[in-house]
Amino acid sequence: MERTLILLKPDCFERRLVGEIISRFENKGLNIVAMKLIQVTPELSKQHYAEHAEKPFYPSLEEFITSAPVVALALEGLEAISVVRDMLGATNGLKAAPGTIRGDFSSSRQMNLVHASDSLESAARELKLYFGEDDFCDSSPVLVNFLR
Ligand code: TYD
Ligand code: MG
Repeated sequence: MERTLILLKPDCFERRLVGEIISRFENKGLNIVAMKLIQVTPELSKQHYAEHAEKPFYPSLEEFITSAPVVALALEGLEAISVVRDMLGATNGLKAAPGTIRGDFSSSRQMNLVHASDSLESAARELKLYFGEDDFCDSSPVLVNFLR
């Protein structure tokens, strides 16, 4: 089992797509093991997007990610990191394949609705930015069986 960090970004919140997107993850069989609604600060944005901090698009990205609340989720499942990345589709909504979340709901490179960790290392780092050990609840045994 893997855990991955998901952010439902400000555009997702403002477009009232939070329920719809969480439903996709639930339907796939991923388990929610932590969840909160938060306002990202500029400091948290710089930590979250550390790999992009020097890129030309970073100031605009920070302005966007701090513009409205985000829903932070920890999802757990078999190969959860790559499964969720595949469900998101390409970064640019215009290029993302139909059937993916970004392909179905976004036509923007920046406002692409959802962040998901891209590796085991980034998942471990990013989960710690949003959640403490006490925030996690174990997957129910019934749901764990459903995944087998
Ligand atoms: P990146 O980590 O490359 O994409 P992903 O979210 O698919 O892992 O980039 C982080 C976010 O930065 C991306 O979701 C949207 C934004 N972004 C831009 O605004 N402009 C760009 O040119 C790129 C590459 C990303
Ligand atoms: Mg990324």
